[in-house]
Amino acid sequence: NWTMVNIADESIDAVRAQVGAKRAICALSGGVDSAVAAALVQRAIGDQLTCVFVDHGLLRKGEPEQVEKDFVAVTGVNLHVVDAQERFLSALDGVTDPEEKRKIIGREFIRVFEEAAREIVKGGSEGGANASEPVEFLVQGTLYPDVVESGGGTGAANIKSHHNVGGLPDDLQFTLVEPLRTLFKDEVRALGEQLGLPSEIVWRQPFPGPGLGIRIIGAVTRERLDVLRDADAIAREELTRAGLDRDIWQFPVVLLADVRSVGVQGDSRTYGHPIVLRPVTSEDAMTADWAKLPYDVLQRISTRITNEVADINRVTVDITSKPPGTIEWE
Ligand code: XMP
Repeated sequence: NWTMVNIADESIDAVRAQVGAKRAICALSGGVDSAVAAALVQRAIGDQLTCVFVDHGLLRKGEPEQVEKDFVAVTGVNLHVVDAQERFLSALDGVTDPEEKRKIIGREFIRVFEEAAREIVKGGSEGGANASEPVEFLVQGTLYPDVVESGGGTGAANIKSHHNVGGLPDDLQFTLVEPLRTLFKDEVRALGEQLGLPSEIVWRQPFPGPGLGIRIIGAVTRERLDVLRDADAIAREELTRAGLDRDIWQFPVVLLADVRSVGVQGDSRTYGHPIVLRPVTSEDAMTADWAKLPYDVLQRISTRITNEVADINRVTVDITSKPPGTIEWE
């Protein structure tokens, strides 16, 4: 695509001009924006870029691997992975209030990122090329809509300029590199494809920064996360198999961890948890309609989840539009 080639080339030149021989860091969330921004900057300055991936344990099945293996394989990016799963789990221990969860996840994310950034700034083994050059730049996947209305995502993994850079400590003040500032989401996806990124990343649905932490209604535990990840993976697989990925805006799968209901499997009574399927269509997430998924797709998802995921004995579908419901349950 002629236009996209131009955008890519021009952006790569602009990044080179801005960064020069200095170093840059970025945070990868697994989402399309940070991935495309990082891939582009990697093309421009190679090893002068170091990416940080904070694995908070709240991503969906396969997503950490997409970042750590597939993204790295395709881009050759210099990646610093922080396994922070235990840290997030203990910070979230016993917390049930949605806003409290968001605050904790956001706070821990910034702290972990700061620690990683400090190590990279000091120029450890992750230094890559020009390790003696200072780290002056922070790459962010800010899109045009984020620029015009700064009400964008409040996600932890989505460190947007308006609520992060000002918040970093003095010794970690960076100049922003925002190569996607003039682009809309569909253009970012086109650019991502052109840069050869895996389609699982390029076509990923919007996913909240606090991740599965706000899709468990009740306290977050490792066991509950594993149950939700398995159910979510089945729902996504069946949606993909039905060829419906691009018709659905988002498909949260929610675990009602504090609710139990009676069921029967074989000859025995079960007392398990319900899963809520929340497929929606939307243009911009401000309003949304519940998605009328074909019954056969719903049936396959239901049968597979109850057969394959221990502890889940009931599958329900949320048929509330937004408003009055929100897309997420928390
Ligand atoms: P709601 O649930 O308010 O969600 O209808 C609207 C959109 O925002 C996403 N969302 C979040 N994104 N951090 C984020 O980065 C958050 O805390 C958060 N909460 C909701 C949600 O997935 C949907 O796309």
